[in-house]
Amino acid sequence: MIITIDGPAAAGKGTLSSALAERYHLAYFDTGMLYRAVGLEMVLSGQNPEDENLAEKAAKELTFSKMMQLSQHPDFRSQVGGTAASKVSALPKVRRALLKMQQDFSLNPVFADGTPANGVVYDGRDTGTVVCPHADIKFFVVASPEVRAKRRFAEFTAKGIDTTFEQVLADLTARDKRDSERSTAPLKPAPDAVLLDTSKMTIQEEIDFAVKIIDKYLEA
Ligand code: C5P
Repeated sequence: MIITIDGPAAAGKGTLSSALAERYHLAYFDTGMLYRAVGLEMVLSGQNPEDENLAEKAAKELTFSKMMQLSQHPDFRSQVGGTAASKVSALPKVRRALLKMQQDFSLNPVFADGTPANGVVYDGRDTGTVVCPHADIKFFVVASPEVRAKRRFAEFTAKGIDTTFEQVLADLTARDKRDSERSTAPLKPAPDAVLLDTSKMTIQEEIDFAVKIIDKYLEA
């Protein structure tokens, strides 16, 4: 079974994806990690994340273990990492270089320890539209910008990252704009995606909503 979960930053995709992967014994692919790894690699090596040819080179040279290594860096999940990811992800050559790796995963999905899985939950921006247009079930998760900024601000504060709510909101808004307006694979729901607005939902309500739809699909 292939499930795709797309939507803007901090809408609740990550939480939902990992909960569904665990419940249905599926592998989990956080595709944002690829773009974060390439973006951070550019920043750490002093290169401009908007230089398409250099970013493409970094994307082509990215391996799974290099991505895991970069994910330990304090800026991997920070605003710096998010902004750099959003910049490299707008470059068509970078998206092309990272597409096959994402698509191949659905042919041989594995859990984090390398054991084979019967399917995958993809978490990203274009996984239902471009990476896996033939997925069994697609969700597009949204929430209001203020709710998303509040959640992200709480996450940053818990991690001791020094920022303000206004800064987080401005950063998310800029990232949404860049992700939605780019020419290649812009952030948008697949025509057959189930829309899920989590603005007024608890995490449990969000999971229950998705589980109901998946169980119905499995029973059919
Ligand atoms: O999901 P996350 O916030 O980690 O993603 C970081 C950035 O990577 C996003 O803002 C987006 O620009 C980019 N991305 C993308 N396509 C994906 C996943 C992430 O363009 N499938």
